Amino acid sequence: MKQGQPEDWLLDDRFLQAQKLAAIGELAAGVGHEINNPLAIIRQEAELMRYLLRDREYLGWEEILSLGDSLGHIIQEVDRAGEIIRRLLDFARKREPVIQGLEVNKLVEDMARLVEKEAQLKNISLVRHYDPDLPMLFSDGPQLRQVILNLLINARDAVEQDGVITITTRHQDGDAAIVIEDTGCGIPPENLDKIFHPFFTTKPPGQGTGLGLSICHGIVQRLGGSIALASQVEKGSVFTVRLPLGLREGVGK
Ligand SMILES: Nc1ncnc2c1ncn2[C@@H]1O[C@H](COP(=O)(O)OP(=O)(O)OP(=O)(O)O)[C@@H](O)[C@H]1O
Ligand SMILES: [Mg+2]
Repeated sequence: MKQGQPEDWLLDDRFLQAQKLAAIGELAAGVGHEINNPLAIIRQEAELMRYLLRDREYLGWEEILSLGDSLGHIIQEVDRAGEIIRRLLDFARKREPVIQGLEVNKLVEDMARLVEKEAQLKNISLVRHYDPDLPMLFSDGPQLRQVILNLLINARDAVEQDGVITITTRHQDGDAAIVIEDTGCGIPPENLDKIFHPFFTTKPPGQGTGLGLSICHGIVQRLGGSIALASQVEKGSVFTVRLPLGLREGVGK
């Protein structure tokens, strides 16, 4: 809720805008750096290849092996740059969903295992209630994994130390429901409508970009589903992702 005079609101908005631009600048610098590294290696390998081929009518084995080696490096670095672009496109929520048949319980369990080790170190236990009769879900596996992982990491951060994260899957009115519940700090009512906004974070600088939930929201929406949230300060939060089981055609259009 905005308070004070309209001029203050304007200042507030400008300040927020400036903050967002700063965050975008930081992101752009990070991406630039990440892309520059593979480009530098590709250039270096290409220079070497040009040197090996200069004024040659035929090549010896050593040169051929060296050329093969350079090509291998170039392919590897192109793949690396491609991966960075893919993540960036995920961030920009522009990647078209690729629909495949998914075993929800397996997908969720794979992500649970990713966070479990670190959670155990903080005495946070993961409790699973997987519906064994959940039908196959037709959706985008990598994007759904990203959603579940973001929610689990948020839950782990919210608990901080000594608590429980409960993961439930169930068949609910024709949807697959994935519920991630934590006994963490909870979300104050005044933040409930902000947490899905890009760049909204309560984490210290360097520990959260505030993009996690906005990415989750964009992905789930494009997959034809929804994310619901219930939270109580100092008690915990429950995030429920629902995805239509029957949807095979037209997803993401
Ligand atoms: N399970 C949760 N319990 C309490 N607060 C939460 C929970 N999940 C999200 N939040 C709040 O919502 C904010 C935004 O979450 P979001 O995932 O978008 O960004 P982040 O976790 O801060 O950073 P990032 O995900 O980009 O690393 C968090 O900073 C936190 O204040
Ligand atoms: Mg997050």
